[in-house]
Amino acid sequence: MTNPDLSIQLAPNNHKGLLLTNPVMAASGTFGYGTEYADVIDIQKLGAIVSKGITLQPRQGNPQPRLVETPSGLLNSIGLENIGAEALIKEKAPLWNQWQVPVIVNIAGESVEEYAEIARMLNGVEGISAIEVNISCPNVASGGAEFGIDPQMAATVTSAVKQATNLPTIVKLTPNVTDIVQIAQAVVEAGIDSLTIANTFKGMAIDTVKRQPVLGNTVGGLSGPAIKPLVLHLVYRVAQAVEVPIIGCGGIASANDALEFLMAGASAVQVGTATFVDPQVMIQIVDGIGRFMHQQEIANLNQLIGTAILR
Ligand code: SIN
Repeated sequence: MTNPDLSIQLAPNNHKGLLLTNPVMAASGTFGYGTEYADVIDIQKLGAIVSKGITLQPRQGNPQPRLVETPSGLLNSIGLENIGAEALIKEKAPLWNQWQVPVIVNIAGESVEEYAEIARMLNGVEGISAIEVNISCPNVASGGAEFGIDPQMAATVTSAVKQATNLPTIVKLTPNVTDIVQIAQAVVEAGIDSLTIANTFKGMAIDTVKRQPVLGNTVGGLSGPAIKPLVLHLVYRVAQAVEVPIIGCGGIASANDALEFLMAGASAVQVGTATFVDPQVMIQIVDGIGRFMHQQEIANLNQLIGTAILR
């Protein structure tokens, strides 16, 4: 068998498209602006990089401590520390423009207008391949997940961003809702190109000696292997309800994890927490998917997607 084709189109309905050479992406917030890892791994081998969530103005983020390890998981309450949209366009996009690997910019706002304004600023900037709309950050007082828990609000933000940009648009959903399918359907109807499922689950840890929450912001978002079965189930459900490509994100740490997500209906995966354990893990996952396809004589990645969905 010739080499299997791992490429995947994540924005089939957008005239620019979002074609990845393979389905493995760095998750927002776990890979900086990509530049930090350029000397650590061969970033050009990745399917895509999603940069740290960007806001209109720079942000300092939440008080320390902002990270705490839990059994099979990681709680974070970073609070969207970032350099701001203007600096990102001036300082990071020109570097990204020299790369082959597509860079997707995760955006967050405190108002619908702010999301639209950032999308407008990023439109046409060379080096930026797509936008991931973050309506799911659990760690900010206003904006973020506030927009992602209500179908109408989620659709309003999505429409505003879509009107402000020609870039392929992905929406990153929060799992902290009663029915993620409703939210997914609302943003799909509002015209998004693909969905990331999902951001972190709200959680906390308590220092029993101090008798107080460990995180400076009390509450954080849980990621890592602990949430993988939960997110896999969300992907499985949403994949049966919408037609747009889904990017699975939640505790993926091996090629087998990624394959589970693909078979549950995801077209691509994002890897986050596992990168902190081993920065090479994403490359290993790409290679492992390729090996699996070769062994199973699967010529094209599309032949794997959704194959575990019982019809
Ligand atoms: C954070 O910066 O607090 C995390 C970002 C996110 O979960 O979207």
